[in-house]
Amino acid sequence: MTTQPPESFLELRDLRIHFPTEDGLVKSVDGLSYKLERGKTLGIVGESGSGKSVTSLGILGLHKGGNAKISGEIWLDGEELVSASADHVRTLRGKKMAMIFQDPLSSMHPFYSVGAQIVEAYRIHNRVSKAVARKHAIDMLGRVGIPQPDRRVDDYPHQFSGGMRQRAMIAMALSCDPELLIADEPTTALDVTVQAQILDLMTDLQREFNSALIIITHDLGVVAELSDDILVMYGGKCVEYGTAEDIFYRPEHPYTWGLLGSMPRLDREPTERLLPIKGTPPSLINVPSGCAFNPRCAFAGRTDGKATSQVPDLLETEGGHLVRCHMPRAERRSIWDNEIKPMLEST
Ligand SMILES: Nc1ncnc2c1ncn2[C@@H]1O[C@H](COP(=O)(O)OP(=O)(O)OP(=O)(O)O)[C@@H](O)[C@H]1O
Ligand code: SF4
Ligand SMILES: [Mg+2]
Repeated sequence: MTTQPPESFLELRDLRIHFPTEDGLVKSVDGLSYKLERGKTLGIVGESGSGKSVTSLGILGLHKGGNAKISGEIWLDGEELVSASADHVRTLRGKKMAMIFQDPLSSMHPFYSVGAQIVEAYRIHNRVSKAVARKHAIDMLGRVGIPQPDRRVDDYPHQFSGGMRQRAMIAMALSCDPELLIADEPTTALDVTVQAQILDLMTDLQREFNSALIIITHDLGVVAELSDDILVMYGGKCVEYGTAEDIFYRPEHPYTWGLLGSMPRLDREPTERLLPIKGTPPSLINVPSGCAFNPRCAFAGRTDGKATSQVPDLLETEGGHLVRCHMPRAERRSIWDNEIKPMLEST
């Protein structure tokens, strides 16, 4: 039974994606809700293993048929996808939604040439001749920075370098002008110039087709300029959500402070981080009780013992800005203004 369709273009309601394994149940996504409108960009940030990719694979329906246990609702343009059939969700991939995968090899077929794969994807959704689709494939390969695209179009994925495969996959994802584009760490394997080209290409697409864009990354710096809203994920849950201004100028969650402190800066060596977050990401099988961040949080002692005994709710602090933390709001604000912000500015 599902509830009424939302007005938003994309809306996740209490999405859970759990994997039964020999070691126990892995709660990769554990009660995630968000909305995204057409023409807007959402940045999803969090450390490795926080559930960013699993959430997106869930939207694309790529867990259907596997052993994942999925509950909650995913509404895309008025259709609920968790309860939809795998066949139906497959027909939406390409034009309605597309994803740029973290691992390019996983989404390219080794036995078909790169061009043939783009042509096929394009012709599923566009009634054009093979020749027209081939020309489109060559254009797209050129736009993502593949040299001599009219020759490389007939190469097989293994003949491309890792960076070129990534670009080819981006060309494939963009070739049908998807209404929802999810880019999972789209630029990490690429050099700076190509990164800028790819990000430009995605924003062009968004402007031209009013598409909705989700950019997934470890690095808040990547999403700073591009995102309207930012969702910070920790241990399969959202811990802070707000506009890019909320997250950069008024962040209230200690984990977000840690991410801001560990952002690489242009004036430093890439390896030199300001305030690395101590400790390691939580186990998703035995999630720490209470606030999942408590073993790593410098402020856990300030919440009357609740940090280890109660899971904090995700609550609105102001104007759609949501925070999952037991500390009173005034205290969070004061710590940010008087302790964290001056420290980030001075180092
Ligand atoms: N099929 C699966 N079976 C069991 N566990 C899984 C499966 N797929 C993902 N996981 C686990 O779910 C968790 C979240 O994985 P996910 O790939 O979403 O992380 P991520 O935030 O994208 O990390 P990264 O930044 O490294 O890409 C990880 O602990 C991962 O090991
Ligand atoms: S609830 Fe406590 S442990 Fe969790 S982030 Fe807030 S202060 Fe830190
Ligand atoms: Mg990932």
